[in-house]
Amino acid sequence: MSGSQGKSMAVIGAGTMGRGIAQVFAQSGYEVYMHDTVPAAMESAAGQIEKLLKRAVDKGKMSADDAAATQRRIHTVPNLSNIGRHPLIVEAVIENPDVKVELLGSIQSMVTDDGILATNTSSISITQLAAATDRPDRFIGMHFFNPVPVMKLVEVVRGLQTSDETVKRTIALAESVGKSPVECNDHPGFVANRVLMPMINEAIFALQEGVARAEAIDDIMKLGMNHPMGPLALADLIGLDVCLDILQVLHRDLGEDRYRPCPLLRKMVQARRLGRKTKQGFYCYE
Ligand code: CAA
Repeated sequence: MSGSQGKSMAVIGAGTMGRGIAQVFAQSGYEVYMHDTVPAAMESAAGQIEKLLKRAVDKGKMSADDAAATQRRIHTVPNLSNIGRHPLIVEAVIENPDVKVELLGSIQSMVTDDGILATNTSSISITQLAAATDRPDRFIGMHFFNPVPVMKLVEVVRGLQTSDETVKRTIALAESVGKSPVECNDHPGFVANRVLMPMINEAIFALQEGVARAEAIDDIMKLGMNHPMGPLALADLIGLDVCLDILQVLHRDLGEDRYRPCPLLRKMVQARRLGRKTKQGFYCYE
C-alpha cells in the first residue's frame, strides 16, 4: 500500500477535519490514505465524503466521473502500520498533546526521507510537537478551517526549528489543493484562534449575562458585521469542546484573564452539549 507512485499523502484522524483534508487532497488528484483508531469514524468519513461529492455532482459543480475518481483515491486503512510511506502526512487527531506526541513518534518513519510531517492542531505548540520527532526541521503546522472543502485558508505555522524549505514546500502543497496558505509563527492560538476565540467567548458571556437571546446575538453579528454566521452558531460548528480547549491554551500560555473561558461554555461541555456533532449546542440540530 505504498503511495510512492504519483502524488500521495496520508491523513491520520477521520474526524471533522481529517475527513475534510482527505477530501480536498483526493479532489486534487492525490492518492489519500486515511487512518483512524475508531473504524466507525472512517466509515462515517467515507459516507460523508460520498454525500458531499454527490451534492457537488447534483449541483453541476463536478462531473460524476470526477466524483467517482475522487472517491476511488481515498483509501481507508484500518491498521496504522499499513499506511505506507508518503511525502506528506497530516496528523488530525484529537487536540490532546499526549495523544499527538505518542502518535507523531510512531508515524515519523512513515514519511519519505525528504517528506513533511504536518499537524492540523488549532492551538498546541508546533515547537513542542516537533520535539517529539527526530525531524523538527521538516515538521510544520498546516491548520485547515472548517468546513475544509469550503474554507480557503490554511494557516502555515512555523515552529522554532521548521526550515525555510519546509515552509516553502508546505505553501506549495496547500496551493496544489486550491487553498490560500498564509504563514505565521508559533504562538498560542497562532493568529486565527487568538482573534476568533475571544469573540466567541465574549458572545457566550453575553448570553450567560442575559444581554440577548442566542439568535439575537448571532443576528447582530451577522447583520452588523457581515459575518457569514453568528459566533454562537460558529462555536457549534467548530465544537464547544474544541473552543474550550483552545481558550484554555490561550489562558494558560498567554497568562491573561481576558482569555478566561466563560463558565457557561464549561457547563455546556460538561453536559456534552458540544454543538453540531452531538446535535445540541447553543442550537438544536435534530
Ligand atoms: N462540508 C462541506 N461543504 C459544506 C459544508 C460542510 N460541512 N457546509 C456547507 N458546505 C458547502 C455547501 O455545499 C455549499 O457549497 P456550494 O456553494 O458549492 O453549493 C457552500 O458550502 C455554502 O453552503 P450553504 O449554502 O449550505 O450555507 P452557507 O452559505 O450558509 O455557508 C458556511 C455555510 C460555508 C459554513 C458559511 O456559513 C461560513 O463560511 N461560515 C463560517 C465558517 C468559519 O468561520 N469557519 C472557520 C471556523 S474556525 C476553524 O475551523 C479553525 C479552528 O481551529 C477552530
